[in-house]
Amino acid sequence: PRVTYVEYTGTEHSIDLEVGKSVMQGAVDNGIPGIDADCGGECACATCHVYVDEAFLARCGEPGEQEASMLGFAATAQPNSRLSCQITMSPELDGLVVRMPEAQH
Ligand code: FES
Repeated sequence: PRVTYVEYTGTEHSIDLEVGKSVMQGAVDNGIPGIDADCGGECACATCHVYVDEAFLARCGEPGEQEASMLGFAATAQPNSRLSCQITMSPELDGLVVRMPEAQH
């Protein structure tokens, strides 16, 4: 399935992401800037913060408890904020678009 990452500057990167991999992993593996993932996907750093395109928000599911609490610390959190290490690629998410916040630029 296809994922498009949009940097804060508007630069877009589209990749094919294997089902089962996290959206964070896809960015790291492909050297896409804007997702630092300092904690390596442990849901403990919030440097993989993304804004999920509204069309895909419901399909991504609700943030978990730990994720919601980490997002609570992110000054730029919005209702469509998610931690990309907690979004697992699935066929339903084909075409997913995520945007990176200014803080990760
Ligand atoms: Fe650290 Fe997602 S990689 S919270």
